[in-house]
Formats: sequence, C-alpha cells, structure tokens
Amino acid sequence: MTPSSPSFMDITFHVQTFGCQMNKHDSERVVGMLESLGAIDVPTIEEADIVVFMTCCVREAADIRLIGQVQTMKNIPLRKSSPLKKRLIAVGGCIGQRDGDQLFQQLPHLDVVFGTNNLASLPSLLAEVLESGGHRAETLEDSKVFPTELPTTREHAWAAWLPITIGCNNFCTYCIVPYVRGREKSRPLEDVVSEAERYVAAGVKEITLLGQNVNSYGRDLYGKPRFADILDAIDRTGVERLRFATSHPKDLTDEVIGKFATLRSLMPALHLPAQSGSNRILSDMHRSYTVEHYRGLIEKLRDACPGIALSTDIIVGFPGETEEDFEATYKLIDEVGYHQVFTFIYSKREGTPAAKMIDNTPREVIQKRFDRLVDVVQARAFEANQSDLGATVPVLVEGVSKRDTSLISGKSPKNQTVHAPLPDGACIEELAGSIVRVRIEEAKTWYLRGTVI
Ligand code: 5AD
Ligand code: SF4
Repeated sequence: MTPSSPSFMDITFHVQTFGCQMNKHDSERVVGMLESLGAIDVPTIEEADIVVFMTCCVREAADIRLIGQVQTMKNIPLRKSSPLKKRLIAVGGCIGQRDGDQLFQQLPHLDVVFGTNNLASLPSLLAEVLESGGHRAETLEDSKVFPTELPTTREHAWAAWLPITIGCNNFCTYCIVPYVRGREKSRPLEDVVSEAERYVAAGVKEITLLGQNVNSYGRDLYGKPRFADILDAIDRTGVERLRFATSHPKDLTDEVIGKFATLRSLMPALHLPAQSGSNRILSDMHRSYTVEHYRGLIEKLRDACPGIALSTDIIVGFPGETEEDFEATYKLIDEVGYHQVFTFIYSKREGTPAAKMIDNTPREVIQKRFDRLVDVVQARAFEANQSDLGATVPVLVEGVSKRDTSLISGKSPKNQTVHAPLPDGACIEELAGSIVRVRIEEAKTWYLRGTVI
C-alpha cells in the first residue's frame, strides 16, 4: 500500500462470499487489503462496521439472495463502540461488475459498489464515503494488472488458491461469466511460480491453481497453452499437494492427462464439467466437444491414473432439452460413476445467447429430471467411495467435524471428506494442517470415516 493509503484503524469488517472459488479467493484479497490498512476482521455481520458482499451472478438464486441479505442489513444495529456513525455496506464481485451504480436504485442504503476488475479500489472508495458521505460505484471494463499483488489473508494457513488466469473466452451460451469477468488473461509463469515458492516456504501443503479454464493457460501470453509447463513448475516447488480447477473438456490435452501419471504432487482428482450428455444440447451450449470426446477423456484419465476421482457439473433444463436429451445425460452420469456431481437447474441470464432460445419445458418436468439425476448421482457417489474401504489414506487435517467436534475432518488425495476420532492426547490446533494416515472403515455417499493410525 502507498503512504497515502487510507487508515481503517479500529474499524471492524466482515466479508460474506457467494459463489465460486475465484470469488472466495477474491474475498481473501479483500480481507488481506483491509487488514493491511488496520481494519479488524470479525466473524459476524453484527460486529462489523463495514460489510462487504462478494457476489455471484451465475444463477438467478444468487441475485435474489444478495438482495434479501442487503435488505435485512437495515434491521441490524451498528455495534455500540463503533467509531462510525453508520455501517458501510459494499457489494463487489460479479453482481457489482454487472449492475454498477444501478444497484443504488434497488438498494438505496448501499454505500459502495465495485467490480471484478478493481478490487484494489475498495479501500479508497470506502474512505471517500467515510469522508464525504454519499455513494461510490466503480467498475472497470478490464483489469490493467493481475490483482495478485494485493495482500492476501488465507482462510487456512496450509492451503492456498493461486489464480493463473482470470476471465473466460469460451462464451458458453448459458453463461454470464465472460461478460462479468472479461476476456481470459494469463499471469506470467514466473509470477505464478514465485508466488507458489513463497507459499511452500511459508508451510503451505496444498496449492489449487485457479482459472475459468485453466487448460488454456498461457495462450494469450505465449501463443500456445502452457498449462502442462505450469504443473511441472509447481511440482518442482516441492509442494505436497497440487490441484486445479476448472478444466474445459475441449482443451484438456493428452500431455496434461499424462501428468496425473507422472507428477508426484498432482492429486488423483479432477473436476471436468460435462454440462450435458446430449450432443445436440452440447452444440447449443457452444461447448465445442461431443459426448464421445468427453468419454474418451475419461478413459484416458483412468488409464493414466487408475482410481482417479472425477467430478462434474451438469445443467438440467437447458432451453429445448427433450426427454431424449435428458436420458443421454442420465446415462453419462450412470456410466461414468463420479465421486461428485454438481447439478444445476438452468437459470436464464439476460444478455447471454441462451436467454433468447425457446424455453418452454414445464418447470415440473425439469424438476422431475433434476430429482432423478440427483438420485443416480448419490447412488454412484456411494459406490465410488466403497473402493476405499480398508485402505489407509493420507488425510490433510482441516479441523474438527462441524456435526461432531470429537471427530477430526480433513481431505483425502481424492478430495473426499474424511472423519476420524481425534487420537488420545492429540490437540486439533496442532493437527490442523498436517497429514495423518487414516484407515478407512466406513464409506458413505459424501464422506469416509476411519481411525488415525
Ligand atoms: N444456469 C445454470 N447453471 C449454470 N452454470 C453456469 N451458468 C449457468 C446457468 N445460466 C453452471 C455450469 C458451470 C457452473 C459453475 O455453473 O454448470 O460449470
Ligand atoms: Fe462459463 Fe463456459 Fe467460461 Fe465456464 S467455460 S466460465 S461455463 S463461459
């Protein structure tokens, strides 16, 4: 921060995040920035003098939730010892970027709106409102710099998200992301590697590379994708666990698939959004691959890394989806046997090409398809987890289980949640962030349970 940076000494703040990992990471930057200016991060809205909402507009439900949340803020009194006269509310992220100052009409008690390309402006926008009152909105079309030079306060000391690209060039017809996050921009390889080296030196065990389509990393900088190179380079930093999200099936190369066989740190788990199992729908979605190509990738991945845990995203009820199209999706899910499937009902987003497509499937029909899909997703996830029964797996401990605090909770290499009783004499504060070996005795749909050995 420059010497003229505003000071937020003794002011408390809370950041509430909606949406994807990229948004969560942006929130870590917001926390880091405000803390570096003296503000104090507090766990609840009630205690906070400044509340920042980091928003998502991928589906309509997220819009509705944000509006509701900001409206209820009117009824929450400011803490008695606050140095401010009134609580400041800021909205950032994708809704901020999309709506800009129009949000003030809908939410007159909002103070600051900022976009996805100008996180760094938040402190000065807040300071201006503190000094002169009124509202401030700033959204930029494009970011001039990659926002990675901003301070970060990570949620967990042992895990770091590392953005390698921002934006997206794919323009899937249902998706608002390219309009709110802009065109794809890669971050120079040396920058990414030096950030990873800093993390490893600071004790980070797991790095997750982030981007809307990590596989096309480097195309804008180097004329060709260099995602495989970045995987090699991060592996060489000595980090214990390496993951990445999200992959686009059209850009996942054999070279990258091969890394699952050869790279020590690359974890045996991949999120590979299919979106649909129908070629007609995939074409209308502008996904640029066929279901045959997608199945071929799954085969290659399983050859390179037997037992790899696969997860995917599926949209049900895309405009014009027929029973036959849905059956093709159902079949794909039934046959692949994913560890996890994120299922979404299509949500119309104004400004996207799909918003203009004829969409006359009754809501009840879509809901029925969705419910059928969820059933098969759960059955296959349960089956997929059974293969770990009796195995001993290294688990990166995150903390205690939310439901039962006598259990530790952590992640397996395949990214499964694993619970185990806290060993006698062990203290969770000391275990968190370390890798323990757990013998798996029980395999459920969404978690494994065992004993630390
Ligand atoms: N409606 C429903 N789901 C959507 N997604 C993106 N846009 C929409 C939309 N308009 C889903 C996709 C994507 C995930 C992050 O969100 O499945 O992979
Ligand atoms: Fe959206 Fe498609 Fe880009 Fe993913 S790849 S962010 S679904 S446009």
